[in-house]
Amino acid sequence: MTRIVYVNGRYLPYGEAAVHVEDRGFQFGDAIYEVCEVIDGRLIDEPRHMARLERSLNELQIPQPMSQLALAHVMRQVIKRNRVRDGLVYLQVSRGAAPRDFYFPGPDVLPTVVCLARPMSRAVPAANALKGIAIKSMPDIRWQRCDIKTVMLLPACLAKEAARADGAKEAWFVDGDGFVTEGASSNAWIVAEDGTLVTRQLSSAILPGVTRTTLLDVLHEEGMVPVERPFRLSEAYAAREAFITSATQTVMPVVRIDGNTVGDGRPGPIAQRLRNKFHQFAAISGT
Ligand code: PDD
Repeated sequence: MTRIVYVNGRYLPYGEAAVHVEDRGFQFGDAIYEVCEVIDGRLIDEPRHMARLERSLNELQIPQPMSQLALAHVMRQVIKRNRVRDGLVYLQVSRGAAPRDFYFPGPDVLPTVVCLARPMSRAVPAANALKGIAIKSMPDIRWQRCDIKTVMLLPACLAKEAARADGAKEAWFVDGDGFVTEGASSNAWIVAEDGTLVTRQLSSAILPGVTRTTLLDVLHEEGMVPVERPFRLSEAYAAREAFITSATQTVMPVVRIDGNTVGDGRPGPIAQRLRNKFHQFAAISGT
């Protein structure tokens, strides 16, 4: 449960925390966000999440709302005030509130900053990882700057809902050429039939996932050489293994894609090993 939320300089009770009705995040989706995992009260991969936040702001010309040090302080306060041991921190920055107009507001309008923390049991993803999850594929109907972590998440909501209706936990988006881009809220990986570990290369078609980046470090240390290239659904159906990565799921094995069994239908050994190794390589920041 979230008890206290940071909104524009104040720590407010959850039920009283609010932003203005003319906030541009609300009216235009003119906002960016980050989700950072918290384990034992400590932030996982904070520097990479903060670097991506800064990049998202720059790409959209949203002014930095405060120094990185001040943001780090806010996140720690929110974790402490909500007594979160294991869970997540959500940080959102919008261009601010101004009378509705497509043009950017003047420099007098300050960005809106919201930060909340929520406890989440690690037992749920751990149990899912033992069984593996199912994926449903969907056409990628998103815009052409998926490298920016904006709150324009309606295509992801529609895809996740459709996946859930089919008994799947995640959706994989497929581009116009038939290649998988990424998950609705995760990056997509396969261990191809020939044993090659494959994930799509970075471009404006996918989010540069922090978990993806850290996993590349893990692979380097393990002496594994991944290939960064697009893959088709047919290749994924025939893969030995598949998995997704995200801050909230870490490495989550995939055992079914569009009703097709992946490998022997159980979480693959590579996905399981990488899941177990991941937190030894992630940066862990004290609070
Ligand atoms: N989603 N791709 C998309 C479209 C995402 O929304 C996410 C994260 C990722 C994985 O990124 P990372 O490893 O940095 O979490 C990839 C977050 C968790 C969310 O929206 O809840």
